[in-house]
Amino acid sequence: MDQQKIGTRCVQAGYTPKNGEPRQIPIIQSTTFKYDTSEDMGKLFDLEASGYFYTRLQNPTNDHVAAKIAALEGGCAAMLTSSGQAANFFALFNICECGSHIVASSSIYGGTFNLIAVTMAKMGIEVTFVSPDASDEELDAAFKDNTRAVFGETIANPALTVLDIERFANAAHRHGVPLIVDNTFPTPVNCRPIEWGADIVTHSTTKYMDGHGAAVGGAIVDSGKFDWMAHADKYPGLTTPDDSYHGIVYAEKFGQEGAFITKCTAQLMRDFGCIQSPQNAFLLNLGLESLHVRMPKHVENGLAVAKFLQEQPQVEKVSYPGLESDKYYELAKKYLPNGGCGVVSFELKGGRAAAESFMKKLKLAAIETHVADARTCCLNPATSTHRQLTDEQLDAAGIPAGLVRLSCGLEDKEDLIADIKNALN
Ligand SMILES: Cc1ncc(COP(=O)(O)O)c(C=O)c1O
Repeated sequence: MDQQKIGTRCVQAGYTPKNGEPRQIPIIQSTTFKYDTSEDMGKLFDLEASGYFYTRLQNPTNDHVAAKIAALEGGCAAMLTSSGQAANFFALFNICECGSHIVASSSIYGGTFNLIAVTMAKMGIEVTFVSPDASDEELDAAFKDNTRAVFGETIANPALTVLDIERFANAAHRHGVPLIVDNTFPTPVNCRPIEWGADIVTHSTTKYMDGHGAAVGGAIVDSGKFDWMAHADKYPGLTTPDDSYHGIVYAEKFGQEGAFITKCTAQLMRDFGCIQSPQNAFLLNLGLESLHVRMPKHVENGLAVAKFLQEQPQVEKVSYPGLESDKYYELAKKYLPNGGCGVVSFELKGGRAAAESFMKKLKLAAIETHVADARTCCLNPATSTHRQLTDEQLDAAGIPAGLVRLSCGLEDKEDLIADIKNALN
């Protein structure tokens, strides 16, 4: 499958029906699976045989869709989670424990910032946030003996900074830890972080992958390229016996390509149970089948709207990495040669009040806690998704209080621009 082009993978990867089997991925709407003998089931519990026993851990519908996402990202294994939040938490917690430290870009989604800075801190996992523009020296200085992962977003929500994936991956690898990249905004159609050195890729599949505002979900993809055994002292969870699984050593039993996702499924999914429902996985697959057709249209609309906004006297600043004037244009050319996404962030003169009044007057674009969907929507992050951040944290994340995040959908760009023009006037 990896040899096929991205569009073919969007449509076909992950599920190949045999003679007489359903053409569409079947929704296996079953909590449990039947076995003839306890011995058969015992082998599954011992991870001696592969198969399904309880949908809190694994479900065949999900696994087909996860296999498609792995093929899209060029990874070796993947799993679906109930949300993007669960995906990022699992990706980090699979290799961190009380006493670990994470280096994270400060320019990330507010929910992920909160997860790492507040909730994971309560679990004894500390973090150092670094600017996405940090120099190599500044990056190196952020690492500690207990650093276990580096985290960033390819295109950050909502600041739209572009992560220099190769440089962050090199820094992570210099310090013997993996780079985890949240690739939600560009999707693998526009960027495949593994090709630039990322080790683990995460997604809020709720966004472009589903694309229709129908199903909350997440995904984790492992590149299989990080050598856990070479850094065994840092990752005892993967490289020493798991007492909760009959002393299995994941990196030994499942190898470099199987260890991460198997441990994440067998341990974290078992204990936290944040699995995506098979119904949602089915809907997600419908979205994936057209992802390569939809993304170019989102990019076309995003670029047209960004160019229009740039010319308007009421607009203070537009962030869109596809604009030549954007600070991240050069990085975008490197990592996102076909464009990034349909999300445009801009600041109106007049700050928060101007943003609120502008948004009220939009007719096509709806105010929603959502982004990356077929229907254009908008949001003022400071009063919604990022309202838990202090002004200093908002500044560090590159989010002025008057910022409007506009997610350009799949409508005709002329109508979107007319709607914005009307609201501005
Ligand atoms: C980049 C990014 N990562 C993760 C998340 C969290 O995803 P979810 O809402 O599916 O939990 C979001 C949500 O907006 C996001 O934009």
